[in-house]
Amino acid sequence: MSTLIRNIGELVTNEPGVGEGPLGLLRDASLVLDEGRVVWVGTGEGPEADEVVDAGGRAVLPGYVDSHAHLVFAGERAEEFAARMSGQSYRAGGIRTTVAKTRAASDEELRSNVRRLVGEMARQGTTTVECKSGYGLTVEQERRAVRIAGEIADEVTFLGAHVVPAEYGDDTGRYVRLVSGEMMAACAPYARWVDVFCEEGAFDADQAREVLEAGIKAGLTPRVHANQLTYGPGVRLAVELGAAAADHCTFLSEEDVDALAGSETVATLLPGVEFSTRQPYPDARRLIEAGATVALATDCNPGSCYSSSMAFCIAVAVRDMRMTPAEAVWSATAGGAKALRRDDVGRLGAGARGDVLVLDAPSYVHLAYRPGVPQVAAVFKAGGRVG
Ligand code: NIG
Ligand code: FE
Repeated sequence: MSTLIRNIGELVTNEPGVGEGPLGLLRDASLVLDEGRVVWVGTGEGPEADEVVDAGGRAVLPGYVDSHAHLVFAGERAEEFAARMSGQSYRAGGIRTTVAKTRAASDEELRSNVRRLVGEMARQGTTTVECKSGYGLTVEQERRAVRIAGEIADEVTFLGAHVVPAEYGDDTGRYVRLVSGEMMAACAPYARWVDVFCEEGAFDADQAREVLEAGIKAGLTPRVHANQLTYGPGVRLAVELGAAAADHCTFLSEEDVDALAGSETVATLLPGVEFSTRQPYPDARRLIEAGATVALATDCNPGSCYSSSMAFCIAVAVRDMRMTPAEAVWSATAGGAKALRRDDVGRLGAGARGDVLVLDAPSYVHLAYRPGVPQVAAVFKAGGRVG
């Protein structure tokens, strides 16, 4: 069944050839979806279709592409958040609390939590979701996490190297060998990506390299949790190994910025984490001006940021990370698609997946201009209504 969305006041296509500026903006536009895809985009009325949706002059954008989330978990850590807001700092070790709860949960509990969060995301306009493992940390538990992630999310990442589980004590080397060997073999068939938390208190550069290289051998592409809590080697390792993305990028040296700017590795910024951990925000302007590609994502997880809202990330990025509203919207859609090496999402041109967010506002600028206000009128994923 085809759907015509007509009377669009402002259409963000992310196709510079189709409309104005980097967002490829069209005014007074229409869009046709058929068999899950965009089949027509242009100004004016557009061709006939089986069903007609009148956008009433509202703004329309590609569905958000959330390229970084940890959704396979049980329990929550509100107390840890409250303690942080009273002055405690965020530590990688908090992850172990969620590991214990996740290991004890049934498959069905984990599955329904992932469904709940992906549904929550869809209702807010997110139509592509990446989901990591990383709260199981045994061969069987990590295999179960990537299997469940793949049932529900669009993109699956194996993050066995999230933190060293308590039962390994200080023997990080032995755990790294497990992740790179038996665990990688068990999980790689369910995943497209391999990720490592390269940080003090988690994995150092040599350990991260061992895991990422094993992932590459198993057919996965790297992405790296890098430079979140302090300066370190994560970003440069990500670039060296051709990672699709270096995520967090909160503490960057000049060398890190240059490495990102001269590479295909996307700098994925996660402002919800800095908000929820009271850390300084990453400097998006510096990265953009150096020529790096910037994506925005939520990092939705029970520890460092329990928000699934891409609109919130856009508002913070504009207010506190020196991004323009246009840059932030691009980074939350096309930027996320680049971080996932996808060319079928994050844009609204002919052939793209029919992932459409109809905003209850006349312009995408309202996402930053009216922070915290629900502004979703409708959401379509692959041509079907999901919100
Ligand atoms: O991206 N940094 C590592 N992992 C997550 C946090 C996970 C947790 O605290 O449970 C992150 O911030
Ligand atoms: Fe993360």
